Amino acid sequence: MLSKRKINKTKLLKNEKNFRLDKFIEFALFGNNGYYLRKKPIGRKFDFVTSPEISQMFGEIIGVYLLYHWKEKINSKFNLIELGPGNGTLFKDIERTAKILPNFFKNAKIYFIEINKELRKIQEKNLNYFKQSEIRWSKALNFRSKLPSIIYSNEFFDCFPVRQFLNDNNNWFERYVKFNEKENKYYSINKRVISKKILNYLSKYKRQKIYEVSYSRNKYFEQICKHIKKNRGVCILIDYGYNKKIKNFTLQAIYNHKKTSIFENIGQQDISSHVNFNELIEIAKQQKLKIKEFVSQRDFLIKYGILDRKKKLLSKNLNLKKNLLDEEVDRLINVDRMGNLFKCLVVSNL
Ligand SMILES: C[S@@+](CC[C@H](N)C(=O)[O-])C[C@H]1O[C@@H](n2cnc3c(N)ncnc32)[C@H](O)[C@@H]1O
Repeated sequence: MLSKRKINKTKLLKNEKNFRLDKFIEFALFGNNGYYLRKKPIGRKFDFVTSPEISQMFGEIIGVYLLYHWKEKINSKFNLIELGPGNGTLFKDIERTAKILPNFFKNAKIYFIEINKELRKIQEKNLNYFKQSEIRWSKALNFRSKLPSIIYSNEFFDCFPVRQFLNDNNNWFERYVKFNEKENKYYSINKRVISKKILNYLSKYKRQKIYEVSYSRNKYFEQICKHIKKNRGVCILIDYGYNKKIKNFTLQAIYNHKKTSIFENIGQQDISSHVNFNELIEIAKQQKLKIKEFVSQRDFLIKYGILDRKKKLLSKNLNLKKNLLDEEVDRLINVDRMGNLFKCLVVSNL
């Protein structure tokens, strides 16, 4: 049953003649009763499975990478910030890996940036060695500390709403959303762009037929880069995305592991889009940060030892089934599965 709050918020959108696509996505994901505020999305039984849920080796490799950075470049008190920890699985694997360098966590002020109350409860339960009181949870980034920071995320930046533009012989149109009362349905319309500011911005993309952008994602990342620039640090982000021109819009909705229309199951299904890594790289460069890595998930995991880790796990525990570990690693690194689509970007001034 719909709650009163949901009805009000739904009416609010329906009463408007038409509204921007990113406003619709924001409403469906983060509005009252939005998907990310009320659903447990992650896991084999739920809507989608993420890399940390596929294999412990993913978190172990990230863990080793974080330990190395801290030891080599910081080696003192620091902020450890995970963006969107989901079920807390990645952190759990990092916690275990960090046993080889106990000073890492002794010096860490840990922050979880999490908007979803249900997921926060799961994260609290899933901690290995830490008490809840040792983790600082926050819904939004709130940079007060002047310590250097290690900020990391997996599948966080794909959650931000996007706007979509179409170029028809140098006439730009933007995708908007309308509500049809008779059919009780949302649908999309294209509105000619008349704002000079936007047209000016779009002129950079005049050779493209389409342009998809998430201003909120770019702004969020810019905040991170500015913080690092001021207080030192590193940001490691893994997400699905691209660094070449796209031929089709990447916005998608997933319900029970299946692709659907973004206008169905509102508030019940995940809506995400591929991250435009070129824009993030540009933002980092503007803040004078170094691009330490920009590689596919496959190259990152292989470079930092996932194949050796698999061998080690098999040799230490004879009960582990080789074909199961092979399948986990294949899913993460095979170029036809997650290996190429997912990319790893590391920006830093350390
Ligand atoms: C796709 S899930 C990925 C979860 C986890 N990192 C993993 O790999 O399994 C996205 C996570 O980010 C959180 N999230 C999404 N947008 C957010 C935002 N704007 N602020 C804070 N948390 C957000 C979600 O609630 C969820 O925990």
